[in-house]
Amino acid sequence: MLLGVNIDHVATLRNARGGNDPNVLVAAKICENCGASSITTHLREDRRHIKDEDVKQISENIKINLNLEMAVTDEMQAIALKIKPHSVCLVPEKRQEVTTEGGLDVAGQLEKITEFVKPLINAGIEVSLFIDPNEEQVKASAKTGAQFIEMHTGAYSNAYGTESEEAEFLKLKNCAKLAQELGLRVNAGHGLNYENVHRMHEIEGLYELNIGHSIISKAVFVGLEQAVVEMQNLIR
Ligand code: PXP
Repeated sequence: MLLGVNIDHVATLRNARGGNDPNVLVAAKICENCGASSITTHLREDRRHIKDEDVKQISENIKINLNLEMAVTDEMQAIALKIKPHSVCLVPEKRQEVTTEGGLDVAGQLEKITEFVKPLINAGIEVSLFIDPNEEQVKASAKTGAQFIEMHTGAYSNAYGTESEEAEFLKLKNCAKLAQELGLRVNAGHGLNYENVHRMHEIEGLYELNIGHSIISKAVFVGLEQAVVEMQNLIR
């Protein structure tokens, strides 16, 4: 299992004061140097953390993969086609939300998503769809042409240590199995941390985990390198 590090919240901290500290590109390079497989950034419509220039800088200066999280909008499609990240992960986006709250409704907008992913795939960009772990969304995702899904692990993470943990975990496990049977590769992320991540080992064939908030939070106390290495050790 690979680790992609989401560095959005390095930008959140930087933007609290303006200026360039902490430097987002330096953060990306540290993650790269300690073995992360990719850097994820979510260029939100309101640019609340990562800015266009960050994406450009990171894409031009890292050797590992850049995974660009983005909404299904013409603006974001044009940016992706210009920057050509290794992959994009399509997410739903609501302006008022604190973080991505649910998965993309692929089943409800199958035609739109299928059309949207075409030029991205034709440009050689891998496409991943961030979906809730349910059968309907997996089946729809397999029809779009996207190569990956990223399972939303938020419900599992919230349920961890409670009586609903098992039910939420099983949704992930079943979803991953079905997706792989349908020819999709499977990533997972959202809300994963140093305590709850270990159960991802119980899901066969998971390709990459995308983790942000818990790593950046730990980095405040122990440094980014140690925070990434500790997470790597847990998911290896
Ligand atoms: N994957 C996706 C699609 C996300 O939107 C996010 C949050 O930006 C993450 C993974 C990482 O979530 P967290 O910051 O909770 O680790």
